[in-house]
Amino acid sequence: MHRPLTILALVGAFAATSVAFAEEHAQTPREVKARQGLMNVISLNLAVVGDMAKGETEYDAEAAEMAADSLMGVALVDQTGLWPDATLGTQSNRALGKIGEDRAGFLAIWDDFDAAAASLQAVAADGPEGLGAALGELGKTCKACHDDYRVSR
Ligand code: HEC
Repeated sequence: MHRPLTILALVGAFAATSVAFAEEHAQTPREVKARQGLMNVISLNLAVVGDMAKGETEYDAEAAEMAADSLMGVALVDQTGLWPDATLGTQSNRALGKIGEDRAGFLAIWDDFDAAAASLQAVAADGPEGLGAALGELGKTCKACHDDYRVSR
């Protein structure tokens, strides 16, 4: 009668994996959760205005303005405490060690993102025409930072 034992062993292995996963998750530093959360707030709001710019959703001035305000809100979150050295260049997230070696360069691109978000905010409620150009500028700042400071996949 080997079968029950095998099943028990499998269940045990699964439970062990779950515990390991839960522990790993619990150990994710708050700074990492916070910065990744901000990045996801960015991408959700970018999609709102991006889809309007592409004509995939109907232009809605109020929704465009709220998305631009949200992007600006993220831009205003101070980044200095969100990228501690111990969380850079590890296997568990995608922030490169270079952020710690060149904080001024990293924060300069964050400032560019801030400026681009302000430009988008200025035009968001004026109609869909201006969205494309403003989003182009904004998108350049994501790419510049991801190219230099994020692990590529
Ligand atoms: C100044 C640098 C910088 C700017 C500007 C920036 N990012 Fe990021 N982004 C990063 C880094 C570094 C990571 C990896 C963070 C980590 O894994 O801890 C990241 C991660 C992400 C992620 C993955 C989040 C997750 O759940 O792991 C998304 C999505 C993202 N960025 C979208 C954007 C978009 C869209 C823009 C522009 C509108 C943008 N980012 C602007 C540096 C930047």
